[in-house]
Amino acid sequence: MRTIATIAELRAELDSERAAGRTVGFVPTMGYLHDGHASLMRAARADTDVVVASIFVNPLQFGVGEDLDAYPRDLARDTELAGAAGVDLLFTPSVDEMYPRPVLTTVSVAEVSEGLEGAARPTHFAGVATVVAKLFAIVGPCRAYFGAKDFQQIAVVRRMAHDLSFPVEVVACPTAREPDGLAMSSRNVYLTPAERAAAPVVHTALRSGAAAIAAGERDPAAVRDLMAQIITAEPLAELDYTAVVDADSFTVPDPLVGNLRLLAAVRFGRARLIDNVGVTV
Ligand code: PAF
Repeated sequence: MRTIATIAELRAELDSERAAGRTVGFVPTMGYLHDGHASLMRAARADTDVVVASIFVNPLQFGVGEDLDAYPRDLARDTELAGAAGVDLLFTPSVDEMYPRPVLTTVSVAEVSEGLEGAARPTHFAGVATVVAKLFAIVGPCRAYFGAKDFQQIAVVRRMAHDLSFPVEVVACPTAREPDGLAMSSRNVYLTPAERAAAPVVHTALRSGAAAIAAGERDPAAVRDLMAQIITAEPLAELDYTAVVDADSFTVPDPLVGNLRLLAAVRFGRARLIDNVGVTV
């Protein structure tokens, strides 16, 4: 695996790979890699000839008072994990390389960006869409792999790539979980031992919501409230939201029907965790 820090070098390298007929798989990350990232890298490795992963903690997607400065970083460990997962090129640009001048051009995706995470973190998705558009422009034609834990992010990125005609196929991969159901996340490192023990309640609540729908519940408010009750019964959990939405439009079907997604965002001390599961009626 080679580490590349400049846009020009990565572009030249990938252009010559494509000119030689090789396909490119791309895994964008903010580093502090875990097995969830490794599963995306392995999927890219299995599907494509040349695998590039980026590590860039993108300041644009952090709101005021969020954890930009504290965001965990460990490039030595990330390099080892990416190499072991089959990455060929690790792109590690600096903030100056990505944003040498104040950013005057941003990308915002209406509608799918607006509820849930978009409502809780109003500038977040414009920051994500802008950096991912920039990374797609740098990497060029490829298949790009994203984890389903960030379900709304995938919808935003997919719509952005479609609307702006990026030659990129967005691939969603299943959420990687710890044995007790907790979704893997770089932010899990913020959890104290007691919070870590409590955190699987998020997945438990989502599964209970899905089970209620499978058993015939069709009232979205009842499912939302059932999940909220399970989470708020945990003293260390501070509920942000629970929701059940149509997986494509992010609207709330009433009665519940179609391809549904149940989502939750919950704070445990310093960590704000999100998770989701799918169910089809
Ligand atoms: O999911 C992430 O790690 C980030 O939002 C992404 C897609 C790498 C953009 O910075």
